[in-house]
Amino acid sequence: MGGVLPVRLGVNLDHVATVRQARKTTEPNPVQAALLAELGGADQITIHLREDRRHIQDYDLELMRRVTQLPINQEMGVTEEMLGIALRIHPNVACLVPEKRAEVTTEGGLDVVGNRERVAHAMERLHAAGIAVSLFIDPEPAQVRVAAELGAEAIELHTGEYANSRDAEQATQLHRLEAAAVLGNDLGLEVHAGHGLTYQNVSRVASIPQIVELNIGHSIIARALYVGLRQAVTEMRTLLTEARNEARLNSLSDK
Ligand code: PXP
Repeated sequence: MGGVLPVRLGVNLDHVATVRQARKTTEPNPVQAALLAELGGADQITIHLREDRRHIQDYDLELMRRVTQLPINQEMGVTEEMLGIALRIHPNVACLVPEKRAEVTTEGGLDVVGNRERVAHAMERLHAAGIAVSLFIDPEPAQVRVAAELGAEAIELHTGEYANSRDAEQATQLHRLEAAAVLGNDLGLEVHAGHGLTYQNVSRVASIPQIVELNIGHSIIARALYVGLRQAVTEMRTLLTEARNEARLNSLSDK
C-alpha cells in the first residue's frame, strides 16, 4: 500500500425522503439536501431506491442525477427492475445489496458466494454500460475472494455487526473488518465500508488504512435535526480526517 490515502465520505440521504414520505408531501427534498451535504464536505451522494419505495422515489434519483455535481452511488437490489433503472439513470457506482421486504434496513451483506451467477449477470450488464460496481458484503474472506473473482471495482464491507457490538466483541468485529479490508486491497479491490456507523463509532473504522470510502446515513440525518445538515456533514467529515491523519502518523512511526 502506498501510504494512507484520504477516506471519502458518501452521505446516504434515504432518511431525508423517509421524513417526506411520512406525509407524502414535497418536503424535505433529498436533492436540496444533497446540495447542503456537498457544502458540508460530502464526496458522494448515496441513495437506495428500494423495491417498496419506502423512502427514495424514482423521481428523486432522476433529479439527483441532473442536479448534484457529486458522484452518485445507487444502492440497489439485484432485480430486473432496478437494473433497468440503473441502466437508464447511469449512476457513477451501483452498489449491489440484498433486499428483503420486511426488513427495517439492509440486514447482512449480499451473499456473492451463494448468488454468484445472478450477481455476475447483473455486473456484466452494468459494466457494459460503463457503471462501476461495488458489492456490499459481510467481512468474510470467502465473500471478498468471490467479489474479486467476479471483477467488481469495489467491495463495501458491512459494518453492522461492529456497530451493534460492544467491548471485546466490538474489538473482534473490528479485526474482522481489518482482515477483510487487507485481503480486498491485496486482491486489487477498492474497499469501502458502511452501515450503522455513528459519530461515536466511526473513528476506528476510518483508521483502517485500506478503507477509502465510508457511506453513512442515519446518524448524519439524525444529527442534522439538531445542527443542520451542512454542519452535521462537516462534523462527520472532520472525524474522518482526524482518524485518517492519526493513522498516517502511526504508519510513519511504524517504519
Ligand atoms: N451502505 C449500505 C450498503 C446501506 O445499505 C446503508 C443503509 O441504507 C448504508 C451504507 C448506510 O447505513 P446507515 O444509514 O446505517 O448509516
